[in-house]
Amino acid sequence: MVSFELPHCHPWADKIHCFDCVDSTNTLAKQMALQGAPHGTVLIADRQTAGRGRLGRSFLSPGGMGLYMSVILRYDCAATELMHLTCACGVGACNAVEAVTGIRPGIKWINDLVVGTKKLAGILTELVFTGNQVCAIVGIGINCRQRLEDFDPAIRDMATSLATVTGEDVSTEVMAAAVLQALYQMDGQLFSKKKELLSQYRADCITLDNEIRVVQGENSAYGHAIDILEDGTLLVAFTDGTQRAVNSGEVSVRGMYGYV
Ligand code: BTN
Repeated sequence: MVSFELPHCHPWADKIHCFDCVDSTNTLAKQMALQGAPHGTVLIADRQTAGRGRLGRSFLSPGGMGLYMSVILRYDCAATELMHLTCACGVGACNAVEAVTGIRPGIKWINDLVVGTKKLAGILTELVFTGNQVCAIVGIGINCRQRLEDFDPAIRDMATSLATVTGEDVSTEVMAAAVLQALYQMDGQLFSKKKELLSQYRADCITLDNEIRVVQGENSAYGHAIDILEDGTLLVAFTDGTQRAVNSGEVSVRGMYGYV
């Protein structure tokens, strides 16, 4: 069981729910949000049986190995005002990893934290609507304690962990406290420091200025990532001469995750 404490005076300290095992903290957080759970409600599980990632993928979540956390954030604004939220959370997650390990990961657009060419963590942001509020469920999964041989052979070439990159045992509790503090700070800056958050995202994003492949449904196209726009979309110069903002689908970076 993951258990840890934020300072008692922390505004989110009395809204932390820890579980041994759930299907997905994001799925449970959605249910709790619809039942009225307040801003700053935090769910952490030691293990997930159906951890979910972007594009309907699964996120392997073995017990005692990783941080699996979701935070409920409520905003009185239109959903379109939250387009940069996943980017802001990516910056927050990088801040947390750097604070604990001294290593700053890169971000593969839009939601993967990477070290070198391997995935360290993923972020899944989902929205639900309650009354006239939009409620964001921010799910973060970070591989903490896995050694190379702990990863499923199918993802071993593509995945890494804090233990692997630091050579030290990084506890999920310490990481949980750091991520919560970073998300709390990000929440306070989401609108007032949008420009700064996006500049930091551009600095962290390893997709920018790289050769990429964009797969949307049956179609795939090659190009060069030239910018991240205000709403977090990726501006791509395609090899056919067109330029387009991409906000969905799989964007692979040449040299990573099997794209050569
Ligand atoms: C991705 O890799 O595309 C995103 C992965 C997000 C995983 C986290 S773990 C906590 C939360 N619960 C989930 O089911 N998913 C997120």
